[in-house]
Amino acid sequence: MPSTRSLSSPVADYLLGLLVLFVAVFSLYMTARFLQPHPHPRAYHAFFHPVASAQDVVPGSSMTFDYDDQQWILLSVDEELYAVSASCTFRGSRLRWDENKGYILCEGHGCVFAHNGNILRGLATRPLETLQIKIADGLVYALRGPS
Ligand code: FES
Repeated sequence: MPSTRSLSSPVADYLLGLLVLFVAVFSLYMTARFLQPHPHPRAYHAFFHPVASAQDVVPGSSMTFDYDDQQWILLSVDEELYAVSASCTFRGSRLRWDENKGYILCEGHGCVFAHNGNILRGLATRPLETLQIKIADGLVYALRGPS
């Protein structure tokens, strides 16, 4: 009678059982996840606030919007969107985007800021506050906080 050598051992059986259990649990999890209704697309942006229609944003130009009790400038520069505070960090004067020169000008004392809020020249010592910006569902969304 030929000798048969067992290929299994208690440890191997235990590991195989764990693998089968893991695959079964993972399959159940993925099936349950697949069967769940997909959240509404806007639910993904629950913390972002819609501030403009994406089609209203003209490359190279600006528009203003109100968000979180403050006015902001929305800029489209080099196919990127930027939202910066519309108030100068020096003494709070109103800012405006100079489309021809490509910078943000303070009409108070002449501070100049880049499109991303960085100081280019003037008396300001702090850059402009910025917002996180996303585009989804044809809308521009903003969120205060680090980007
Ligand atoms: S308030 Fe902006 S430069 Fe004076």
